Amino acid sequence: MPMSFNQSVIDEFRANGGKVGGPFEGGDLLLLTTTGARSGRAHTVPLGYVREEGELVVVASAGVAPDHPQWYRNLLAHPVVRVELGAEAFDAIAVPAEGARREQLFAAVARVAPGYGDYQARTERELPVVVLERPEMPVREVRSLADKLLEVHTWLRAQLRYVREEAQRHVAGQRAGLGLQLRQHCLAFCEGLTHHHRGEDAAIFPALAHSHPELADALDALSEQHRTIGRIKDELVALLAGIEVEEPERLRAEVDRLAVELEAHLAYEEAELLPMLAGIPFPPMR
Ligand SMILES: [Fe+2]
Ligand SMILES: [Fe+2]
Repeated sequence: MPMSFNQSVIDEFRANGGKVGGPFEGGDLLLLTTTGARSGRAHTVPLGYVREEGELVVVASAGVAPDHPQWYRNLLAHPVVRVELGAEAFDAIAVPAEGARREQLFAAVARVAPGYGDYQARTERELPVVVLERPEMPVREVRSLADKLLEVHTWLRAQLRYVREEAQRHVAGQRAGLGLQLRQHCLAFCEGLTHHHRGEDAAIFPALAHSHPELADALDALSEQHRTIGRIKDELVALLAGIEVEEPERLRAEVDRLAVELEAHLAYEEAELLPMLAGIPFPPMR
């Protein structure tokens, strides 16, 4: 699709709460925003989707083009994506299905949208089938910076637990051929962690150091923990550079090492900082 056509669909979608006319009239359309694998820039495309077993499923067809579309290459590098669906928008983790699950989902998609079956028949590459997983978040009102910190910590803990269990199953051989599930979640967790610690180092810690000089030692210790955790996380990301998880045993060991450090860090940070953060409104008041 030429860019200008894409953009007009995106504009119409956003202006009409997710409804689009013309060739898409009545079809199920969502907007997917990925982060450029190389550029780091946001990249939005309108995509048809199918709901199967409660999951949002999209196919990386790009018609019968020989290469995977840009958005698919992007989500392999950055699995956290933004989904706009109707008037709603949320973050999701993009996980390409593999093996029997891919076959099953593709068949379900082709039943609803037979065009994909035609595309598959006319191209050499296996069209990737991507599940946009919406992480379950406890719905809790965020009113202070303490609430916000706890919300992010809850997400990190949940992702870490998932990744540890998945790595365990992978090593135990129960999950042969499901490497991408582990890889995408592990990468999403690492990105979330990087983002969170960067925000703390750049904004929250300096502000607290200023307003609460008595926290200086604790903040130094927390920053040092960020650096230790960051080193382990970088090693993990390096292990995940390929599409296949080559060394599941080593990956599991690294994830466990990270888990020990991170769990101690989150607990210490909450004990030291939550009382001060509870008095700071979030989102910030103008
Ligand atoms: Fe934190
Ligand atoms: Fe932290």
